[in-house]
Amino acid sequence: MTLANRPIILTGDRTTGPLHLGHYVGSLSARVQLQHEAQQFLLLADTQALTDNVGRHQRVTENVVEVALDYLAVGIDPAKSTIFIQSQVPELAELSQYLLNLVTVARLERNPTIKAEIRLRGFERDIPAGFLTYPVSQAADITAFKATHVPVGDDQLPMIEQTNELVRRFNLTTDRQVLVECEAVLSHAPRLPGIDGKAKMSKSLGNAITLGSAPDEITRAVHDMYTDPKHLRVSDPGQVEGNVVFTFLDAFEPDTSRVDELKAQYRQGGLGDSVVKRLLNERLQALLEPIRTRRREFEQDRAEVLAILRRGTMRAREAAGATLSEVKSALGLNYFDA
Ligand code: TRP
Repeated sequence: MTLANRPIILTGDRTTGPLHLGHYVGSLSARVQLQHEAQQFLLLADTQALTDNVGRHQRVTENVVEVALDYLAVGIDPAKSTIFIQSQVPELAELSQYLLNLVTVARLERNPTIKAEIRLRGFERDIPAGFLTYPVSQAADITAFKATHVPVGDDQLPMIEQTNELVRRFNLTTDRQVLVECEAVLSHAPRLPGIDGKAKMSKSLGNAITLGSAPDEITRAVHDMYTDPKHLRVSDPGQVEGNVVFTFLDAFEPDTSRVDELKAQYRQGGLGDSVVKRLLNERLQALLEPIRTRRREFEQDRAEVLAILRRGTMRAREAAGATLSEVKSALGLNYFDA
């Protein structure tokens, strides 16, 4: 593949908290691979996080560096990937403004992810306009870089659909092919449950193992993990389905035949939770040890982390600025061009 037609990837995370194993399985490990094959932009979505964190802006801004530390700790290489801060690229806000004219309020209200989030947060009709329109801001994030591929979870598919509608609308109404349609890249990894067995691992639900966890925090989380409540004695047959320890072993133990053996033994009876948990604890400790070490190293050097973010943001502004020039020309907003 030549450099010219290397795919352009845009992806990112809201900066509402540090990242956890769910992020690692769902997106971070893939991004570490993708940075070798594509031009990758990683967006620290502080502006988007503000859309439903009014009054909690400090939490949002504090977590920008936390998420950046997580990226660096898992092996995102700032020489290969561009890590940047959304709020510091004004071109994204500018593009959002133009795209907002190409979508109706009715269409915004039909976005299934937005609908679900409105319900979840109890907004009803008192939804902040910035929240209702964040899919348009997200479309600006993607199209400002002419991203061709956007790795996402399935909850983000409606965003990609809406982005491509906006691209077609823009190109049609300006009669120029300025913006580029993108493709969602779905993760193959199944969603990691929380340690309590809830469907989703989430820091705010208190069921997460964050990437910077200390060894004893990992051990405690594994100890507390939901298994089979009916598996009381070692000799009892146990259930593997919905048993978080086995779900995690499926995700993190490379020796699948070993996991299969353990499952068979557990189902039959005669295998205690503590044995399986010990194996999982070993795996998670081995996985997170180098990540935690690298994270601590960068934590000691916040000036370097900020320098990385500054350089990434400058690079991002350059790329977005080039697209914005084309966008504004297409709209006739190039008054001062020679
Ligand atoms: N919506 C994403 C999240 O919930 C963050 C995000 C903002 C994003 N802009 C994006 C993801 C553009 C992919 C592409 O974390």
